[in-house]
Amino acid sequence: MTDGGLNTAALRGSCTVVVGCQWGDEGKGKVVDVLAGGAHVIARYQGGANAGHTVLLGDRQFILHQVPSGILHPGKRCLLGNGVVVDLVQFFGEIDRLAERGVDPRGRVGLSTRAHVVFPYHMALDHAAEEAARRKIGTTGRGIGPAYEAKTGRRGVRVADLLDRRRGAERIARGIEWARRRLRDLGADEARAGTVEEAMAVAGRVPEVATDVGREIARALAAGKRVLLEGAQGTALDVDHGTYPYVTSSNTTAGAAAVGAGIGPTAIDSVVGVVKAYTTRVGNGPLPTAFDEAMDERVRELGGEFGATTGRPRRCGWFDAAVGAYAARVNGLTGIAVTKLDVLDTLPEIRIATGYRLRGEADIPFPATAWELDAVEPVYETLPGWQAPTTEARRLSDLPRNARAYLHRIEELVGTPIAMVSVGARRSQVITEP
Ligand code: IMP
Repeated sequence: MTDGGLNTAALRGSCTVVVGCQWGDEGKGKVVDVLAGGAHVIARYQGGANAGHTVLLGDRQFILHQVPSGILHPGKRCLLGNGVVVDLVQFFGEIDRLAERGVDPRGRVGLSTRAHVVFPYHMALDHAAEEAARRKIGTTGRGIGPAYEAKTGRRGVRVADLLDRRRGAERIARGIEWARRRLRDLGADEARAGTVEEAMAVAGRVPEVATDVGREIARALAAGKRVLLEGAQGTALDVDHGTYPYVTSSNTTAGAAAVGAGIGPTAIDSVVGVVKAYTTRVGNGPLPTAFDEAMDERVRELGGEFGATTGRPRRCGWFDAAVGAYAARVNGLTGIAVTKLDVLDTLPEIRIATGYRLRGEADIPFPATAWELDAVEPVYETLPGWQAPTTEARRLSDLPRNARAYLHRIEELVGTPIAMVSVGARRSQVITEP
């Protein structure tokens, strides 16, 4: 919008990554839902049931944890790539619930044979580790960390293993043995690891969905079809680039999209970064631009900022352009989508953190450690609010002048053109025109 308009080129790629640029919950589900209308294939590339994508279809709300948000568009193929860790009970439950609510997922959902499976014993380990920890991460309790640990420790069980029941059961039995030892070490009841039978509960349904995701995507692209790669969580939760150790256990950033979907990086031609018009964080770890208590409560209520997976209240704060600019760099963004602008409609003034100061030093780069991020002082700029509803705006020019100025400042500070603005939960409440 540098020239007074939006720069929507990023929305028209043949292979587009949609990536979170804060601490997750940026509204990626909504952005993917909007873009999925023009795509043929939508694939998730990392994370698992820790994600919660909320999408409104008419008056009906859908919260999807594992199936890509594109499923709500008839006829789209929705895939889970090898980089995902899948809880099969949850996954098939989600598919069945969609079918009950009239969204027919049959034949439209594919799961990579190379994806790793999250079993009840991973969840038991996740809970036991958090209970035993002095420094708690505040995980979602979905077994994500232990499942990725098993993967990199070469102890994991993949979807392909479950296509051979005997082999699958053997690998699960070894996983349970390992989990029982670990639970014992953590001072937890080892029976919490459960049994092979429990872990195999829905394994019989795997052939319905198992596929070679990388091959499917490569074929779709070769046939001129458009592909969306849907990230989960956000840049500041990336295991390498986030606020370690207060992160999730996967690479959430755009580079992981190629690895986690099973394609080469040169296939990707656009990267849309999703930023909320303010900042939220759920789980532990630093949040430099956190509001004071009263404002925190006000914005949480206005924005409905409660975790879609755990129901936990999210901490809220001002827009942090230091995180935004960092995300632009590590993801190679070609455009940004700003969501939930309407949540700020009633505020008399709005602050933006333009950077950080640390021990008297200004303009420091985004720190590598959580303790430094805890110690930074954000440098704020204050902009006038617009104090008018934006929820009916469908073009950028419909927005109040101060709202456009706010967006313009975000764009300048993040250093990436704005391609889309969302002003409400509905599919129609989106601005993609000047
Ligand atoms: P885990 O991914 O469950 O291991 O949790 C690790 C950290 O990531 C915790 O701070 C969680 O609150 C956070 N987290 C995981 N998934 C999401 C998400 O989808 N949105 C926001 N935060 C998340």
